[in-house]
Amino acid sequence: MYICLCNGVTEREIRSCCAEEGACTMRDLEHCLGVGANCGKCRPAAKEILKESRSLNDSRSESRTILAGASA
Ligand code: FES
Repeated sequence: MYICLCNGVTEREIRSCCAEEGACTMRDLEHCLGVGANCGKCRPAAKEILKESRSLNDSRSESRTILAGASA
């Protein structure tokens, strides 16, 4: 689904930018993909995706920490 119509950015591209390039702020998304840089109507939806991606990344890193601790 398109999130930023001005720049043709999809939800998948935003999630990928968070997971693979470590974007964790709206400024990062704006820099990487141009999200929110024009009219700004996409900013609330992009922030929500960013928040979801951050919590997913946090839980993955927690799991890695727990697994690393279990093998030590
Ligand atoms: S819809 Fe994203 S800047 Fe306009």
